[in-house]
Amino acid sequence: MCGIVGYAGQRPAVPVLIRALKDLEYRGYDSAGIALLEGEQLAITKKQGKIANLEASVGDLPDATVGIGHTRWATHGRPSDQNAHPHLSCDGRVVVIHNGIVENYAALRQRLLASGHRFASETDTETLAHLIEEELAAGRSLLNALAATARQVTGSQAIVAMSTCDPGAIVAARLGNAGGVVIGFGQGEMVVASDLAAVLPVTQEVAFLADGQLARVTADSAEARTIAGEPVALERRRIPIDPVTALKGQYPHFMLKEILEQPEAISDTIWSLATLEPPALYFDDLGAAAGRLAAVERVVLIGMGTSLHAAMLGQRYIEAFARVPAAVDNASEFRYRDPVLGPETLVVSVSQSGETVDVLEAMAVAKQAGALQITVCNTEGAQTTRVADGTVYTRAGLERGVASTKCFTTAVVALYLLALRLAQAKGPLTPEQLAGHLHELARLPGTVASVLSRRDQQRKLIRGLAAAEHALFLGRGLAFPVAMEGALKLKEISYIHGEGYAAGEMKHGPIALIEPSFPTIAVATEHALRAKMVSNIEQIQARGGPVTAVITEGDEQLTALCDAVIPVPPVSSWLEPVVAVVPLQLLAYDVAVQRGCDVDQPRNLAKTVTVE
Ligand code: AGP
Repeated sequence: MCGIVGYAGQRPAVPVLIRALKDLEYRGYDSAGIALLEGEQLAITKKQGKIANLEASVGDLPDATVGIGHTRWATHGRPSDQNAHPHLSCDGRVVVIHNGIVENYAALRQRLLASGHRFASETDTETLAHLIEEELAAGRSLLNALAATARQVTGSQAIVAMSTCDPGAIVAARLGNAGGVVIGFGQGEMVVASDLAAVLPVTQEVAFLADGQLARVTADSAEARTIAGEPVALERRRIPIDPVTALKGQYPHFMLKEILEQPEAISDTIWSLATLEPPALYFDDLGAAAGRLAAVERVVLIGMGTSLHAAMLGQRYIEAFARVPAAVDNASEFRYRDPVLGPETLVVSVSQSGETVDVLEAMAVAKQAGALQITVCNTEGAQTTRVADGTVYTRAGLERGVASTKCFTTAVVALYLLALRLAQAKGPLTPEQLAGHLHELARLPGTVASVLSRRDQQRKLIRGLAAAEHALFLGRGLAFPVAMEGALKLKEISYIHGEGYAAGEMKHGPIALIEPSFPTIAVATEHALRAKMVSNIEQIQARGGPVTAVITEGDEQLTALCDAVIPVPPVSSWLEPVVAVVPLQLLAYDVAVQRGCDVDQPRNLAKTVTVE
């Protein structure tokens, strides 16, 4: 899940590439590099660490107008200058950057070594440079050499290459789902990249390569074909952008900015899909899926990480509102367990990026089985939106912090509305019920804003949690996914081991961990099976474990019982998860800052995960 970009135009390529790499840094940040093609000369610089390290080393590069850049998340070979991309062929005439995994690289490497190639890195990517070199030596053009190379490798990849044999050109290939390849068409300049973030600062006019397609671009042309050699007409489309949300503004971290943006993001998402006067639902991007909803007999929701937690809530909404059996599954497990699917099954994938490989592969399985597919996605034109029959867009704006926050809450409200839409299609939803739900949703942004305004009141909790090594997050019913999400937020940005559990499960094992230095955070709001939570909290306290609870304000019993409480305003049972998760996001953020962690780019992670 690396970030890749290529530029061919009239301007010096280095500043364009550096800016693009900064926009792609969320895809990986353990090393970065640039290669420039100036006539028949190649120049490369690459550095371990973040883009800032690379930027400090680009001064000596020539003023070329064609180049490629890469920001890496290591799969094969530890992060180092040597293993950073771009990688060169042994004759120094081919340079390659890559996203994905060459699954048969060990066998290819052995064969290449035996035929005299010398390797300079431990990466799987370098095999691609040597393979292209061989194909060029056999008399092929650069594009044909890339196609011939693509036919020899297995696994999902996006490959971008340049060669002194084809000055002025950049070639790219997309094989499977490894983050995709998008081509940007500017005025006398072209961009090739792994995703839109790198293209939009240059142009909004784009085309996406499909699986098995290749392209060759120069400053003023783009041609595409399949690996088999059939010509492809690139389908150009215009992507809207909102540059303001891409900036951190006055906030110290994107994550904090994004947490605080939630009232607006939630409101934008709700009112892009519904109106209050008259009470109605508008799903403009459902496409062919709209007409098939009435025939849906079963729903399977899939996602990863935070999006999986949103999907867990979507399952509850669908069963409750539409009375259709719904299951939820981790996409990476779903795809390998030969799931029972058919045309009557609706598969709902949740992915803020729309590029997560586990989700895309699961969608491919669903497609093959003929299931109807809807994706809930925050990224216009992303791959999940191109695979699914219909899309429900969340309107969170660009999310840059690796820890997802506003994309969780907006996905939850989008799933809530999708459940209502399904209920409408299936019949059980009356206009009065719809109006009731929409009135509750209309109050939600204000309630979330009120939780955010109380941030200072929970500051006293930061120090205690920051000193802990482990923490248990408990919830029941709709609060269970909230507990899972609270634990994920804490562990990914503060590196404290957080474990999210269904509170009823606690006495079947985890309670053995309880001791005075092991804090529990319980989500015990009014509608989250509160009475049962009270018992669970008492069981923990009886064993000396300190408990902090997220409660509904005015809950005097829990205020007296718990060591600390975080009160949130009352809200309808269905929307409690959206309100209860916000203090947990803030707590994780404040604890991570207190511990001096890199909040927006935590270690070992990347924003978009495009490798299995
Ligand atoms: C969330 O904080 C995580 N960084 C991660 O779990 C994320 O939600 C997951 O990788 C799925 O991403 P997606 O929504 O883009 O598919």
